[in-house]
Amino acid sequence: MKIIGISGSLRTASVNTSLLRAAASLTPYNVKLVIYDGIGNLPHFNPELDTEPLPLAVTDFRSQLKSSAGVIISSPEYAHGIPGVLKNALDWLVASGELYEKPIVLFNASPRASYAQASLTETLTVMTARLIPEASINVTQGMGDGAPHVSSNADLPKRIECALATFVKAIGLACADSRAAVGEHS
Ligand SMILES: Cc1cc2nc3c(=O)[nH]c(=O)nc-3n(C[C@H](O)[C@H](O)[C@H](O)COP(=O)(O)O)c2cc1C
Repeated sequence: MKIIGISGSLRTASVNTSLLRAAASLTPYNVKLVIYDGIGNLPHFNPELDTEPLPLAVTDFRSQLKSSAGVIISSPEYAHGIPGVLKNALDWLVASGELYEKPIVLFNASPRASYAQASLTETLTVMTARLIPEASINVTQGMGDGAPHVSSNADLPKRIECALATFVKAIGLACADSRAAVGEHS
């Protein structure tokens, strides 16, 4: 099972990207977490550009998401909102529908940030993604700037593993639900 991780930060030393990297190293044996690092290459969204031939970065982004069973987003808050680069990336998916009923979990590496999480939740809900709040994690310490300080937050690996297990279980249930919906289960 492939899960895509998207960081809302383009910073090389991003704590959000570090959190996703930590998660990628802690996935269950049958799950691969691929961190998508291309959202900075997407053009500014313009509905007039959303026609064939699509910009290559858009095709790549959409196909990565389409082939994933779920998505983990970890994003900083900028001025009480989500970073423009992440909103731009999501705007490219509104009409094409790769996030339609897609299981998504939000990780939060910024203890003070709540507006960005609320804004992301609103946007993903209107895009009909399937948010899994019980698998989300808020990291309140040990994610110091510039390094994956997993080791300085003793219980973080366990929390990440539990979050991933909860997320994978929810994805499994989502698959079962959708098979039932199309009549594969009698
Ligand atoms: C331009 C700018 C605006 C920010 N605005 C907020 C904010 O409104 N609320 C907040 O909690 N943090 C804010 N921050 C702090 C970042 O969210 C925080 O440093 C975050 O951990 C950065 O994530 P990263 O390390 O993944 O890049 C802001 C940072 C920048 C650069």
